[in-house]
Amino acid sequence: MEKTDGLTQDDLAAINKILEDNGEDPGRMVKVLQDVQKVLGYVPLAGQRFVAQRLKIPVSRIHGIVSFYNFFRKSPPGRHSINICMGTACYVRGAKYVLDEIRTEYEVEPEETTADGKFSLEVLRCLGCCAIGPVMSVDGQIYGRMKPTKVKEVLEKYN
Ligand code: FES
Repeated sequence: MEKTDGLTQDDLAAINKILEDNGEDPGRMVKVLQDVQKVLGYVPLAGQRFVAQRLKIPVSRIHGIVSFYNFFRKSPPGRHSINICMGTACYVRGAKYVLDEIRTEYEVEPEETTADGKFSLEVLRCLGCCAIGPVMSVDGQIYGRMKPTKVKEVLEKYN
């Protein structure tokens, strides 16, 4: 499929539809960008440029919004999604050390994807199973009582 600035014609058509649905209103930018993320899985720079052109506003304004809100992904989602709970119950039991292990061993930061495209990393506030914290989930599968030393053993199960 032909790509324009990294986006396919289908991607561009989807973004055009989102802009039309939102009245091409720069005041609805957060909603527009959330919708773009729903369709593409993230908000690529090319998508930000396209939206800026269509609304005749500086791309820096859109980039500022995407950078400010941590729920916007700037890179494509990985094949597997890792969520680390940093809610209070998990945090006091050492969730930060589990997160640090993933950051160091897999060279990935929250809201990013590993260089090989295998894992996306997200930090959440509570996964609803505080009694078995620290909790990590991979593609929705919950792993409780996590320790830094268990990270590799769990993630090796995923291809
Ligand atoms: S605080 Fe981590 S599951 Fe509730």
